[in-house]
Amino acid sequence: VVDVSAPPQVAGALASDRDIQHERLTLLAELLDPGTLRLLDALGVQAGMRCLALGPGCAAVAGWLCRRVGPGGSVLATGLETTAPARLEHHNLEIREQDLLAYPLPECVFDLVHARVLLASLPDPRAGLLRIFASLKPGGRVLLEEMDFVSVAPDPSLGTDTRRLLARVIGAQNTALPGFDPQYGRRLAGELVTAGLVSTGCEGRASVWQGGRTGGRVWQLTLLQQRDALITAGLLTREDIDTVLELCENPRLRLISPITMAAWGHWRAPAKPRLSTLARA
Ligand SMILES: C[S@@+](CC[C@H](N)C(=O)[O-])C[C@H]1O[C@@H](n2cnc3c(N)ncnc32)[C@H](O)[C@@H]1O
Repeated sequence: VVDVSAPPQVAGALASDRDIQHERLTLLAELLDPGTLRLLDALGVQAGMRCLALGPGCAAVAGWLCRRVGPGGSVLATGLETTAPARLEHHNLEIREQDLLAYPLPECVFDLVHARVLLASLPDPRAGLLRIFASLKPGGRVLLEEMDFVSVAPDPSLGTDTRRLLARVIGAQNTALPGFDPQYGRRLAGELVTAGLVSTGCEGRASVWQGGRTGGRVWQLTLLQQRDALITAGLLTREDIDTVLELCENPRLRLISPITMAAWGHWRAPAKPRLSTLARA
């Protein structure tokens, strides 16, 4: 899939970290939502279901779930930040701003749990998974999606120096965040199987991100968010980062995006997910 979306506005000063995060999550959703909604549809999300939208980001998926489950169903949107779902006007939407690892989720209540780009950044992704699985009712299903950075590689038409710089920047980004696992996408499907979920499956989605378009802008915003940490850690210089931030606006920049690895499965009643197996594995 090639990123053929309309070029976003890339010029202009960025007002705050909050604005950067808002724009980044909105554009990320633009890139990823079509695949997510297709998979949710295939998993059989229906009227009357009770769903959990975990880490809702810009809340487009939470809104879609509210419409799909209708007045007889409900959606709980919960995450560290819930400004976007709070703007939605759905009577069947409940919002809780809370840390997945600090506060338990309701147990045995959800027909469906969806989370995307969340677990890989948790200090203990398995603890998060255990809470997700425990929140499922018998017969409940999960769709979890996490990135794997194995695919990220620039177009060979870029010069050698540029490719080397990009490789350094990507490597630094993948090591700079404490606890972040850039290979988590490939682990996800196995975690579901280990926990004993059934009818499991997985699928990866990647595209070519281009400078000056949505993918390039997502990367630019991510790098802007990480800039100070990368410089303070001594991983990159200000000049390295400024060069790449500029490249992100140049249509000559093309690189394979991270793979968004989706994994799904059901908890077949009456067997419980083997949470203890996962905890010990
Ligand atoms: C990178 S954003 C992804 C947003 C959205 N899922 C998407 O893919 O567009 C990460 C999301 O996970 C949530 N999040 C991160 N850590 C969390 C935690 N410990 N507990 C609950 N939510 C968390 C954030 O609030 C945010 O909504």
